[in-house]
Amino acid sequence: MNATLFPELTTSVIDAMKDAANPRLREIMTVLVRHLHDVIRETRLTEGEWAAAIEFLTATGGICSSTRQEFILLSDTLGVSMLVDAVNHDGGEAVTPSTVFGPFYSGEQDELPAGASILKRPEAGEPTLVSGLILDDSGTPIEGALIEVWQTAPCGLYDVQDHEQPDGHLRGSFRSAADGSYSFETVLPVSYPIPDDGPVGKMLRALGRHPNRPAHIHFMISAPGYRRLVTHIFVAGDDYLASDAVFGVKPDLIVHPTAHEDGMAIAYDFRLAGA
Ligand code: BEZ
Ligand code: FE
Repeated sequence: MNATLFPELTTSVIDAMKDAANPRLREIMTVLVRHLHDVIRETRLTEGEWAAAIEFLTATGGICSSTRQEFILLSDTLGVSMLVDAVNHDGGEAVTPSTVFGPFYSGEQDELPAGASILKRPEAGEPTLVSGLILDDSGTPIEGALIEVWQTAPCGLYDVQDHEQPDGHLRGSFRSAADGSYSFETVLPVSYPIPDDGPVGKMLRALGRHPNRPAHIHFMISAPGYRRLVTHIFVAGDDYLASDAVFGVKPDLIVHPTAHEDGMAIAYDFRLAGA
């Protein structure tokens, strides 16, 4: 019944795009219009609801700035970012799974020597040594891979969200050694809420959802001849592993920190796919 509601309108909109110079744009817009029209047919969307949707999207754009990307939060919280990632990164079982990039990467940092700390001021968190190998999909070490890491402070905020933290705090760039090894000192990451003081936070509350992400450290690993890997490691036992607000958890990314002489140790090897 719904499928018969004004079908010629959908056909007309799709036909109107037939001369688009870019065939990929035409393909994507055709599917988008078809699905969007079907949402309206299936839900019998009211005029008030459509006005509310436009108001929501306007507010989402309105809060965006050079330090706040509400559309990334929207994409992440609706599972769109993880789906785009899945479509584009099916590396198979031999490589480390990827996950969301998130909005808090702030560019390449100065390279630090192996084993250096990524703290720029002391923190009360549990001192943690993170180490492992960068390998290819057959287990051969990759020398000279660029390993970029970032995480929040124990207060649950990234340096770019918190003026009290020094720039570059809890961020670092490292190079893998000839045997593929990398290591750095940090503090054990904590779970934290994504920014929820804007339209996306309002949407989460309206949907009965929480804004929290389980404790994690972000990694971006690049090496010539390999696909760049954007991923995290997540800490086992975290309360939010099963309900990450952005759906980014994959079982192979969960690590079990162990007690170490001066705190905790996390061991994790990354495997990169060939380019
Ligand atoms: C993050 O882990 O930094 C993040 C990811 C998605 C949305 C917000 C934050
Ligand atoms: Fe994060």
